[in-house]
Amino acid sequence: MKRRHFLTLAAAGASSTLVAPSLSLSAVAAPRQTQITAGKTRLNIAGAGQPDTDLWLYNQSCPGPMLRYRKGDILRAAVRNNLDVPTTIHWHGIRNLSEMDGVPDLSQAPIEPGETFEYEFPLKDSGTYWYHAHNMGWEQVARGLYGPLIIDDDGDPPVDHDICLMIDDWRLDNDGQIHQASLGSLHDWSHAGRLGNWLTVNGLSAPSFQVKDKARIRLRMINAANARVMTIQLDDAEATLVALDGAVCLPEQINRIILAPAQRADVILDMDRGTLTLSEVSTGEPYPAGTINVDPALGVSSLGTSERAKTALTLPAPPKLPSLNNVRRIPIHMQGGAMGNLQSALFDGEEKPLRELAQNHKKLWAFNGAVGDYRQIMAEIELNSLVSIDVYNDTAWQHAMHLHGHHFWVLSDDPTIALPSGQRDTWLMQPQERISLVFRADNPGLWLFHCHMLEHAAAGMGAVLSIS
Ligand code: C2O
Ligand code: CU
Repeated sequence: MKRRHFLTLAAAGASSTLVAPSLSLSAVAAPRQTQITAGKTRLNIAGAGQPDTDLWLYNQSCPGPMLRYRKGDILRAAVRNNLDVPTTIHWHGIRNLSEMDGVPDLSQAPIEPGETFEYEFPLKDSGTYWYHAHNMGWEQVARGLYGPLIIDDDGDPPVDHDICLMIDDWRLDNDGQIHQASLGSLHDWSHAGRLGNWLTVNGLSAPSFQVKDKARIRLRMINAANARVMTIQLDDAEATLVALDGAVCLPEQINRIILAPAQRADVILDMDRGTLTLSEVSTGEPYPAGTINVDPALGVSSLGTSERAKTALTLPAPPKLPSLNNVRRIPIHMQGGAMGNLQSALFDGEEKPLRELAQNHKKLWAFNGAVGDYRQIMAEIELNSLVSIDVYNDTAWQHAMHLHGHHFWVLSDDPTIALPSGQRDTWLMQPQERISLVFRADNPGLWLFHCHMLEHAAAGMGAVLSIS
């Protein structure tokens, strides 16, 4: 598979023009119960002049429907499975009820074809979240089963437009179809995961968003890719980073942001130009992701200078890290993958050489000498204790480590690591990095801790924490 599309086609694809939603749209109350149907749909994602792509989508749309609530609301969703394979939905980043967390065979039975499962849970936090399939996610997410989940807060800074950008890279073949032969490829599973060759934002190739003159915009960026670590460049704009993974951080001026799979970043920026170009620059060659254009027909920003000045003040401070005196430490030594040092690992109660694990079981990664297994509990944790997952990434690869049901602080003694000022739910680890992910275990239940490079997760990079 060449990366030809990824590098060249986007520029050729005709872009779509959308009027960016204004604040008033966000105030529309979510229905009492949302219907979400997972099913097969043909849709154009490969750009104008390209054939439609056979996808698996929620409600036939790519991304799935925007679920928008207010903090304190209850999310109720009836999820029907019209696929021929079992599925579930995980509500990524939500401090959820364990039984609503959507992990098949751990939090719920998989939703079988033709069946419906009703999710219902309170939304305790505001911010930018997303939902995605969690059964064979490496295939189901790659085929399009994901959507945005935004939770508004009365204290959110006023903006003219609130734009969600759900960014994905697809691996398409020359007919514009999901590249099937490489789904489940052992090479991807043991290397960087499934990297795509075609970038979309909200299912479109380089969409253009129309905004008011001098508009203040909140951009919510979500990386929905299976494995690609993206770097989003916002021209040379002076954007203010206000949240990471849904959680507030200390405001920081940025114009580019690295987003590992599943990570989110919210920025607020003021249009000081007619067109702002967004690009994905991780490969070194800017790939057009979209543009934001002033449309005079929409008028001028309705925010006065005093409203603009207030923004920084209205942002709450991120929660403070408690004292680590009584912290429970859970060391995790991550090994495996290509070019790694894992010789053998425990799998199904037996020590097996890596070659056999790879060839017979498609397992390639281990935590503390054991292949990750969602049926086995790695640690029992007392409710409300303070926990530090001390991870050593002893592999040759980056990993996007995600904890279900909680947000964590990120700590390290290494001064070269730029630590976030607030909490996160997914942390991108570099090869050989050592990091502590500290959280209050205040949410009882069974929770996954896994890599969000979905191929790595499937190949053993995950574990279950039990909190009671
Ligand atoms: Cu978005 Cu288990 O993950
Ligand atoms: Cu990984």
